[in-house]
Amino acid sequence: MTTHTIAVLPGDGIGKEVMPEALKVLDRVGAMFDIGFRFSHFDWSCETWLATGSMMPPDGMDRLSQHDAILLGAVGYPTVPDHISLWGMLIPIRRDFDQYVNLRPVRLLPGIPCPLAGRGPGDIDFWIVRENTEGEYSQIGGRFAEGSEAEGVAQTAIFTRRGTDRIMRYAFDLAQRLNRPHVSSATKSNGLFHSMPYWDERFERMAAEYPQIRTDVHHIDILAARFVMYPERFDVVVGSNLFGDILSDLGPGVTGTIAIAPSANINPERRFPSMFEPVHGSAPDIAGRNIANPIGQVWATAMMLDHLGEAEAASRVLRAIEHVTANPSATVRTADIGGTASTSACGDAIVAALDQVD
Ligand code: NAD
Ligand code: IPM
Ligand code: MN
Repeated sequence: MTTHTIAVLPGDGIGKEVMPEALKVLDRVGAMFDIGFRFSHFDWSCETWLATGSMMPPDGMDRLSQHDAILLGAVGYPTVPDHISLWGMLIPIRRDFDQYVNLRPVRLLPGIPCPLAGRGPGDIDFWIVRENTEGEYSQIGGRFAEGSEAEGVAQTAIFTRRGTDRIMRYAFDLAQRLNRPHVSSATKSNGLFHSMPYWDERFERMAAEYPQIRTDVHHIDILAARFVMYPERFDVVVGSNLFGDILSDLGPGVTGTIAIAPSANINPERRFPSMFEPVHGSAPDIAGRNIANPIGQVWATAMMLDHLGEAEAASRVLRAIEHVTANPSATVRTADIGGTASTSACGDAIVAALDQVD
């Protein structure tokens, strides 16, 4: 039996509610496929910050580094400034573990009501490849002329050749591996003077190395419109950190709910653990009520299984999710997809479905 060591960080808000459902699914699928898991549970969160002034203990990264993968819920609490909590845990994990790929599938699942007319399961199915360690997310810059009429802030975006090329290469390789030979690039080279013209230049160079892959380039504004008008046209979409972030809420929004969307923060070289989490946040507006949809967390767990080499188990989890979303009964569907199920009832239904699908 292979045993994988997993660091479990539920984090804040609904992260604490959806994580137990993912662990129930792992327990069952592990038993079915003879996979062992050794979990380390870390309660690092905004509560830790409120009590100690830091999100993680000083040896936090060292402790995480001793695991094969990290499963994260969500970070963020209304009384802690977001830039403190996120730059205190989530973003350092992504950066220090060089998880430079943020892979976010966008898929219309069976039984999920699509806000767009005339689309059914299979019609919307593409992958967002988001750069995850540089770009617009930077601590470079700061306030100037503080207190004077000329006061302001500068926020510097960094696009290195290494950082840009490696995310684009991942996107092209993914398109090839999935046999979806089409990569779209999100740009804004008409408005951003330095960064995006460079992004376009590197994209063009990378595309030349993959002549068998069709490419197109979209300014982010019209790309947002095209996600809504023609989502079926996309296969693999590569974007910078910020553009990828926005597109990866827009995409799932177009498929009916952001609550089902998963996210894999991958260090492809496997020098460090990769991290798996839902796309959504800690949802303080619904936290503590046991009504959050656990599917994003469970799907992220399937991506983790895939990354750990457990492809069969991963695909079983995905089929179990689809089995549940296809079920019209309100008792297994959470409120965001038109039902009355609690978080745990939906999780139980996924666990049961693991045995019902083949
Ligand atoms: P959010 O994703 O937490 O919530 C947006 C909306 O979607 C809310 O109305 C929420 O109720 C709903 N929603 C989200 N997940 C759901 C689920 N599983 N089931 C049902 N409904 C769900 O985004 P936000 O409101 O912008 O941010 C709230 C906090 O989370 C902030 O502190 C933010 O910084 C943080 N955040 C963290 C992450 C992360 O940890 N990766 C991601 C996004 C936001
Ligand atoms: C996400 C989130 C984070 C991001 C925030 C909370 C910093 O929105 O994972 O999509 O922007 O990366
Ligand atoms: Mn986001």
